[in-house]
Amino acid sequence: MSKEIITNRPSGIASSIYPKRIPKIKVGAIKDELGFTLSERLALRQAWNLIRPFERRYGQDVFYSFLNDMYWGINKFRDGRDLNLKAMHSHALQFIHFFGLLIEEADPVMFQLMINDNNLTHSRCKVGSAYIGNLAQALVDYVLKVFHKVSSPSLERGFRKIVEKFQNYHDHQPTKTAYHRVSKLDVL
Ligand code: HEM
Repeated sequence: MSKEIITNRPSGIASSIYPKRIPKIKVGAIKDELGFTLSERLALRQAWNLIRPFERRYGQDVFYSFLNDMYWGINKFRDGRDLNLKAMHSHALQFIHFFGLLIEEADPVMFQLMINDNNLTHSRCKVGSAYIGNLAQALVDYVLKVFHKVSSPSLERGFRKIVEKFQNYHDHQPTKTAYHRVSKLDVL
């Protein structure tokens, strides 16, 4: 009688079938590469469909009250001594429109590129990340107030995450180099 060694381990073909690994159970909502849940994405898109027709008005309300509090910001729109009113008024629309573009962007790589590009523009104009964060927060507070009746925890969380993306950029990054090469300006 042949001796069979009985082990708990399956052998032969059975080993490739049993025991099957139990898939890792993810607790809580599944997030995309940028950290948004599906319901946050949905809430942001639906909210922006309501906001879009009023972009100009909301953008002006928020940006001009921001400049009222932080009057130094007006100096960022000077050409020499003259105030470039066209650039300043355009920014009131550009900045809110940029929010909308981010919310519509489905590709995480493009999303991050857009944020990086925006950060570079502001680094060039020497606008610090704290102020970018302040303006982003002011816009979010404003729209959540206007749409308080249709607001939801998902929408609030979604907006908070967008504000964090703006805040998470570090000042003094090299403005003329790519791929994190060190610029001479950083060494000096
Ligand atoms: C969430 C916050 C902000 C967003 C989304 C935003 C968005 C933008 C966008 C889309 C542009 C145009 C970029 C281009 O033409 O390529 C821009 C330019 C600019 N932004 Fe902002 N911005 C923000 C905050 C600020 C703040 C706080 C200031 C300071 C006052 C500021 C000052 C400027 C200036 C000086 C320019 C260049 C304007 C020009 O073309 O002459 N931005 N910004």
